[in-house]
Amino acid sequence: MKKTRVAVLFGGRSGEHEISLRSAASVIRNLDRSRFEIVPVAIDKQGCWHLVEALVAENEARGSAMNVPAAGSSGARPVVLPPDPSRGSGKAVFLDTRTGEVAATAEVVFPVLHGPLCEDGTLQGILELAEVAYVGCGVLASSAGMDKEISKRLARDAGIPIVPFVTIRSERWKKASESDRSRERERIARELGYPVFVKPANMGSSVGVHKVKDAASLDAALVDAFKYDTKILIEKGIAAREIELAALESRTPGDAPRVSIAGEVTPTHEFYSYEAKYLDENGASLSIPAKLSDDQMRQAQKIARDVFEALECEGMARVDLFLDKNSGQYYFNEINTIPGFTSISMYPKMWEASGLGYAPLLSELVDLALERQCRRKALSREYLDL
Ligand SMILES: Nc1ncnc2c1ncn2[C@@H]1O[C@H](COP(=O)(O)OP(=O)(O)OP(=O)(O)O)[C@@H](O)[C@H]1O
Ligand SMILES: [Mg+2]
Repeated sequence: MKKTRVAVLFGGRSGEHEISLRSAASVIRNLDRSRFEIVPVAIDKQGCWHLVEALVAENEARGSAMNVPAAGSSGARPVVLPPDPSRGSGKAVFLDTRTGEVAATAEVVFPVLHGPLCEDGTLQGILELAEVAYVGCGVLASSAGMDKEISKRLARDAGIPIVPFVTIRSERWKKASESDRSRERERIARELGYPVFVKPANMGSSVGVHKVKDAASLDAALVDAFKYDTKILIEKGIAAREIELAALESRTPGDAPRVSIAGEVTPTHEFYSYEAKYLDENGASLSIPAKLSDDQMRQAQKIARDVFEALECEGMARVDLFLDKNSGQYYFNEINTIPGFTSISMYPKMWEASGLGYAPLLSELVDLALERQCRRKALSREYLDL
């Protein structure tokens, strides 16, 4: 049987570049070699794409994170994926930017990148224009999922509980008079109460996230969060357990997504900050399954399914919830449309604990991408006057 070529895209121009290198190493190691041939494509921090075939063997031997070789180095062939569907007839065609020759082709693209310009629909838009099959959410769910305000509004509209929040835009805040600002601060104190969490709308990894305990510390948190985004959320802080679930599109179109058992992340820091996630190896403990009653488990799974559907997700997503320690109420916190894929990441771990191993999970994701492309191809792009 001819093998399906899977282009694994990794790296990327986001703050989560390094995490992507670790996720991609794991994905490449675990993709079923009896079915798939791997085309590794690294995106460097400047946004240039490189075909890095030699890295696959190197990664196998070292068993660690993939590297993104410097532009011009011998192991890296600079490539582009032109958004031109006529070249590949459904395949991804990577062209050598120096010679214009075809450097590689692939039947499916597997984006293993996180954060803005990777997970937010921009990359997915290029893949749509090129008419290539790709793993995971489409443009709409990717961009809606990346924006913490939009995803919460869509969830709220579907009847899913969310933590109360207000949104502030940097342009408005900067030109507001001092009396307007104090009115806004009073509104925050009245509607949300302290502590609040201040976070950029379109970031990840807790970059720019602050727990603010009193009004006097609010402005400093706003200034820092505005470094990362022009829109920020201020949320009511709750004493919460952090419950996560993995969702996977059904193989039967139209059926509800499959949802894993829930896991729990318990940070040892004041909250699940960047330090707790990446700098302190004892920053959090993970429990899979989360210690929940049957009813709490069922409720969490229902919310994850509802969020996946409300945001029109495809392929996969990790849904993160808060479980209020005082009231027992669940809140939807956020969705990750390209979740971490390292061997210790929650998404593959939760599937493993639910009976779907890492390698079969990857095969399933590739198959879902190919099936979606077939369904898309069957649609007409022209007006059919029947
Ligand atoms: N409203 C809140 N109440 C209590 N804790 C919160 C609240 N919002 C955020 N936190 C804490 O801050 C952490 C980071 O916030 P959040 O998950 O919203 O953003 P992020 O981690 O940057 O996004 P991503 O998970 O995509 O990387 C949470 O895991 C949690 O520990
Ligand atoms: Mg989070």
